[in-house]
Formats: sequence, C-alpha cells, structure tokens
Amino acid sequence: MPTIETLIEDARTLYHLTFKRERGQTHAERLESFYAGQSNGYDRFRERLLHGREAMLRQLELAPGEVWVDMGGGTGANVECIGDTVADLQQVYIVDLAPSLLNKARERIARRQWRNVEVFHGDATRFHPPAGKVDVVTFSYSLTMIPNWFAAIEHAKQILKPGGRIGIVDFYVSPKHPDSGRLRHKWSTRAFWPLWFAMDNVFLSPDHLPFLSHHFKERHIAEGRGKVPYLPVARAPYYIFIGMLNTSSNSTEWVS
Ligand SMILES: C[S@@+](CC[C@H](N)C(=O)[O-])C[C@H]1O[C@@H](n2cnc3c(N)ncnc32)[C@H](O)[C@@H]1O
Repeated sequence: MPTIETLIEDARTLYHLTFKRERGQTHAERLESFYAGQSNGYDRFRERLLHGREAMLRQLELAPGEVWVDMGGGTGANVECIGDTVADLQQVYIVDLAPSLLNKARERIARRQWRNVEVFHGDATRFHPPAGKVDVVTFSYSLTMIPNWFAAIEHAKQILKPGGRIGIVDFYVSPKHPDSGRLRHKWSTRAFWPLWFAMDNVFLSPDHLPFLSHHFKERHIAEGRGKVPYLPVARAPYYIFIGMLNTSSNSTEWVS
C-alpha cells in the first residue's frame, strides 16, 4: 500500500509528465525544465517504470578496478543498484545534462560516502573521461531522450577501451520486419508507445537494436515488457543490450 507521501510525490510527477510542457531554447534547458519539479520523487516513481536496470547491470559483470561511465545517469540510482561492487571499481562517472537530477546524485554520493564516484554536468555525445578510455559505458533509459542517439553510441565507441563493454536498457518498439530471433510487436504496440512517450520527449525507435548490433559484438540481448504506474493493464516494451567493442577496433583517438 503506497504511503500518503508517495501518493503526493506521484501526483506531482504525473502532473509534470502529463500537463507541464517543458521550456527552453536548448536540449539541456528543456531537460532541466522537465525534471526540476519532479526530482524529489524521481527515484520512487522511476523504480516502478524503468524496468530491467538491475538486470542490465548484472549482465555487465563489472569487475574490480574498472572505470564505468553512466551516460544520462541522472540521480545515480544505477550506482546504488550494484551494491558493494562500487567500492571495488576504480572510478565511476555519472554524466547528465539536468542539474536538478545531478544534485540528487551528489546527495547520494555524500550519503553513501562513495569516494570513487564523480558527477559531470555534460552531454553524452561529447563527454571525455578525464583519465582516458574506459572499460564500461551504460545508457539506462537515456538513449530515447538523446536527440542524436546514434552520435551518443558512436561517441561511446570512441571512449571505450578495446574489449570494453556497453550496456543499454531502454524502451523501444520492434521494426515491422525484425531480424530473425528478435520479437515482432504488433502494429498497435508499434503505433501506441512511440506516441505515448513522445509527449515527454522520449522517442522510441525500432533502430536501436539493429544499430547496436552493427557496432558491437553482441553478448546479451533481452526483450521484455514492464508495468507502467497508474496504467493497470499496459506493459511498455523495453530491451537490454550488452555488447563488446571489438578488441581489434581501430577507433580514432580523441584528445581531451
Ligand atoms: C529517463 S532519465 C534516466 C536516468 C537514469 N539513467 C535512470 O535510469 O534513472 C533520462 C536521463 O537522460 C538525461 N539526458 C538526456 N539527454 C542527455 C544528453 N544529451 N546528455 C546527457 N544526459 C542526457 C536526462 O537528463 C535524464 O537524466
């Protein structure tokens, strides 16, 4: 049974999701105007909406000494998901364009006394980790909010070490004619969810999985459906993709 506090936070979040139109000239300004009023209830609402994040992180098998960049990492909830493993990592970077969510991440870092987790206000298509290439890059429900998502993936390739891993979990719809072995959503699913999420500038695409499979060696793919708060029968489709950068990848060097 939800508490009164949760119901009030949910009402505030639903107001922002349903009625409040975002303002701003730039993508960063629009994101902040969308998230500023709902940052307090963000984690509690999204843990019932953004399914598969823990499963994606489990599949990544983060190992001691690794450096992990969470692109569009928001409040840092993903770092919490990996439990004690975080202490064994060399460094974690949470990159996001919404200051109100990054403030929540800073509070979490202070509360948990994580000394190896840093927050960066920056764009996922351009962020350069200060200490060079990294072992793992993740996008959890951020790719659908990044207008040039393909540039974000290509940038992730640039900052990953050879053999590095990428982990993505996000909403999607299947192509009308998917590759063999992939799910085929019926037309109503392919029509409804992109329209529904577009109201909040979340753009579902049938192209994520084919693009990711083209750029990375597949290690794991899962396709599922998850509950949506206050929509009793609806189940939104999402995927998990874990890929590896080819060890012989000769991606061009970048200079920070
Ligand atoms: C639905 S939220 C997901 C947040 C977090 N990854 C999670 O799982 O709770 C999408 C996030 O992507 C961020 N975002 C959108 N476009 C971005 C960009 N170009 N660069 C960095 N972050 C971005 C938003 O500010 C937001 O925090």
